[in-house]
Amino acid sequence: MAAEPTRADKFSFGLWTVGWQARDPFGDATRPPLDPAESVHKLAELGAYGVTFHDDDVIPFGADDSSRAEHISRFRKALDETGIVVPMVTTNLFTHPVFKDGGFTSNDRDVRRFALRKVMRNMELAAELGAQTYVMWGGREGSEYDLAKDVQAALDRYREGVDFLAQYSIDRGFGLRFALEPKPNEPRGDILLPTVGHALAFISSLDHHELVGLNPEVGHEQMAGLNYAHGIAQALWHGKLFHLDLNGQRGIKYDQDLVFGHGDLINAFALVDLIEHGAPGGGPAYEGPRHFDYKPSRTEDFDGVWASAAANMRMYLLLKERAQAFRADPEVQEALAASKVGELRESTLGAGETSADFLADRGSYEDYDAEGAGAKGFGFVRLNQLAVEHVLGAR
Ligand code: GCO
Ligand code: MN
Ligand code: MN
Repeated sequence: MAAEPTRADKFSFGLWTVGWQARDPFGDATRPPLDPAESVHKLAELGAYGVTFHDDDVIPFGADDSSRAEHISRFRKALDETGIVVPMVTTNLFTHPVFKDGGFTSNDRDVRRFALRKVMRNMELAAELGAQTYVMWGGREGSEYDLAKDVQAALDRYREGVDFLAQYSIDRGFGLRFALEPKPNEPRGDILLPTVGHALAFISSLDHHELVGLNPEVGHEQMAGLNYAHGIAQALWHGKLFHLDLNGQRGIKYDQDLVFGHGDLINAFALVDLIEHGAPGGGPAYEGPRHFDYKPSRTEDFDGVWASAAANMRMYLLLKERAQAFRADPEVQEALAASKVGELRESTLGAGETSADFLADRGSYEDYDAEGAGAKGFGFVRLNQLAVEHVLGAR
């Protein structure tokens, strides 16, 4: 069975995950608040290497300067005592009523200015704590009513905000990279930058596109009916996988935030295989934190909270072990070759081949046996069955 998590595995958790009090639109909290310092200690014991947070997770909204300093010093003390690092920080631009129509893209200009200032203040703390990545999840950037939001103007303001903050990081020498987190809906009826694809297109329009990438979340892509492993592969292909949010989701419904692997297990397997072995020529395709953004279900007490935190890491390690076994299995290697999976890495045109050379190659068209090729199977089902058997531990 899989090894216990160690710091080398780079598992990180949002303070808001284990700290979620399980308040939902239909019911009150089922758990008392959790002290961030306690979460840091507990996650360290369980084998995590990092924690992440929104400003308001550590410093209550509206805290004055002296109480702010106290909260930060308590949190820092826990980091120092445990050696837990802070690889990523983010801003809460969604809980306070002032953000009901968004932060960067609120119709109200004063709210937009307040939102930018809130981010600037927290970026400074992020840099002080050594964070490399600053996540922007625009959960309230969107609308319920199409005619209430000028989407093109909202995208202009979104771009203005992200470019301004990237420039601020450069000016202050913070060294941060920004990761946009797409989500199709919830809490807004429709959220701007709803998928990996929309966000990639938006990034390409930025002045500071080189500093901005993605933080895709399993459940968010799946809420849109999309394939997370494919989205991650495309983000990698663009050099834009700056961070990720791992969790579980079962189909197109509300954001379930289940434990990683408790949703689409086979896609989770494909994902772990991809990020652990998906670089051209093998090796990890993604070296950053394996970050969990899940919610311990509302039914759980604190024992359940810590058991679910451990389950995320164990699930990842089990899938990693299964992916290694899959890759090492000679029958899998043979099935991969029979399915021509590796052949896709060969360029379609020969080195230096001109269109004239290509037109002269009768074998590629005039003499090509399309009927014969069309009659041959690829054997993908056999390959997938081998993968599922590895996931099940049957091989
Ligand atoms: C959600 C989001 C958030 C963000 C977090 C970081 O659906 O609530 O996933 O958890 O990841 O706010 O910015
Ligand atoms: Mn989410
Ligand atoms: Mn998330």
